[in-house]
Amino acid sequence: MQLVKPNRKYEKSWKEVLSELETEGLMGFFNPNPLEKTRDLDHYIKQTKDCEEGKNLPEDWVSSTTYWLVDNNKLIGQVNIRHKLTDSLKKLGGHIGYVIRPTARKMSYGTKILELALQKAESLGLKKVLITCDESNTASQKIIEKNKGVFQDKISGKDEPTLRYWIDL
Ligand SMILES: CC(C)(COP(=O)(O)OP(=O)(O)OC[C@H]1O[C@@H](n2cnc3c(N)ncnc32)[C@H](O)[C@@H]1OP(=O)(O)O)[C@@H](O)C(=O)NCCC(=O)NCCS
Repeated sequence: MQLVKPNRKYEKSWKEVLSELETEGLMGFFNPNPLEKTRDLDHYIKQTKDCEEGKNLPEDWVSSTTYWLVDNNKLIGQVNIRHKLTDSLKKLGGHIGYVIRPTARKMSYGTKILELALQKAESLGLKKVLITCDESNTASQKIIEKNKGVFQDKISGKDEPTLRYWIDL
């Protein structure tokens, strides 16, 4: 199991994942740029590279690195690591966002993707990271706590309260 940058090897898996997430209404999670949702993998790869280099970003967005979690040659999930925080990310979003494809949930992949992402965040030079989740997202709370997240506070969020945690790297 490893994190890899988006690439053509997993095109079939990627399309399956998009369909799974579309059914769930979460396709936006699998895209680093909310202005352009695409099913063209070459375009998607370019978007993720641009986001990493801070090019063509939506207003107020910071650069970020996107990785895919792959296991047995199958795409399992995606994680996005923001290189710094904005005022908005300090409230909602934090440094790291992750999603596991619906058909691979409850198999500990969520816990693993954050563990591997923390190593990548450290190599990006971050010393500690903020991770947030909705109060009702029990799975995400467990994932953060298992990765040594220290609860900071609960603040009002978009639709429901947001929990904020810090993890020292
Ligand atoms: C949240 C998410 C990443 C969890 O992924 P996952 O691979 O199922 O997570 P894990 O298998 O590592 O499970 C972690 C813990 O949460 C529990 N869990 C998983 N899904 C759960 C659910 N729907 N309700 C309650 N608990 C759940 C697991 O049983 C496990 O608990 P345990 O440690 O006591 O055994 C996944 O549901 C997802 O992609 N959701 C949509 C996007 C999202 O919410 N991302 C996080 C934003 S902060």
